[in-house]
Amino acid sequence: MNWDTKTVVITGGATGIGYATAQLAIERGARVVILGRTEETLRTAQKNLGDSASYRVLDVTDAQAVRQVFAEIGPFDHLFAFAAITEGGRFTDISEERMRTFVESKFWGQYHAVKAALPLLPPDGSITLMSGYLYRKPTAGYTPYAVANGAVEALTKALALEIAPVRINALSPGWIDTRADRTPPAEHDQYLKFAAGAAPVGRAGTARETAEAALFLAENPFMSGAVVDIDGGLS
Ligand SMILES: NC(=O)c1ccc[n+]([C@@H]2O[C@H](COP(=O)([O-])OP(=O)(O)OC[C@H]3O[C@@H](n4cnc5c(N)ncnc54)[C@H](OP(=O)(O)O)[C@@H]3O)[C@@H](O)[C@H]2O)c1
Repeated sequence: MNWDTKTVVITGGATGIGYATAQLAIERGARVVILGRTEETLRTAQKNLGDSASYRVLDVTDAQAVRQVFAEIGPFDHLFAFAAITEGGRFTDISEERMRTFVESKFWGQYHAVKAALPLLPPDGSITLMSGYLYRKPTAGYTPYAVANGAVEALTKALALEIAPVRINALSPGWIDTRADRTPPAEHDQYLKFAAGAAPVGRAGTARETAEAALFLAENPFMSGAVVDIDGGLS
């Protein structure tokens, strides 16, 4: 695929996996629009990404705002719906309100983005959603992810049948070193040690490695309805 002629929209594109995906898409020649809630973070990211990037402030949980911003962006080629807040907790500890807030972000945010993107994508366009290993490979204490990721994967499989020839896939990363937890460095080091012990490859993944898998899903015309694990061999 020739990325030179492509425009890519990335929710959550100012940081972590979304930012690495923006960087890689630009390196391959694409134009990129990054979306997120925090203007300062977006502005810094855009500056670092350069002239091939632009940004829009958007909260993906606001369906009306998502429709409006996507309509203003206009036709584009590939959507990466990666935005989500971070949450954890055992079922018995986490409140219904926190659970709803998380699912609103992680599942409904992707739902709104897909709805708004579909009328704007060409027949050879694609959508890449963001799941995570905690659905099919759960860990106690992460019930919210298990629930939301299950819904994301179900949506991916079902929509692949309904929206073809537009393609839709999902990524399911394991422990990736992105600082999404926003914890102090010492705590983050603990996270990395845990990840190194948990993953058979002996370390956490990088945002760049995850971005490479994301671009593969967008550019391979025979990939649709797939959920791709990128987790260093977690079981
Ligand atoms: N890192 C991992 O180990 C891992 C593993 C499996 C799956 N994932 C998934 O990968 C995705 C990216 O995570 P990451 O690790 O790269 O974390 P991250 O750096 O925190 O990225 C999340 C991005 O989403 C944006 N965001 C959050 N809520 C939003 C909203 N309502 N509307 C618009 N933007 C919003 C954030 O920016 P603002 O706060 O400025 O809006 C941020 O840029 C997430 O869906 C996460 O669940 C990550």
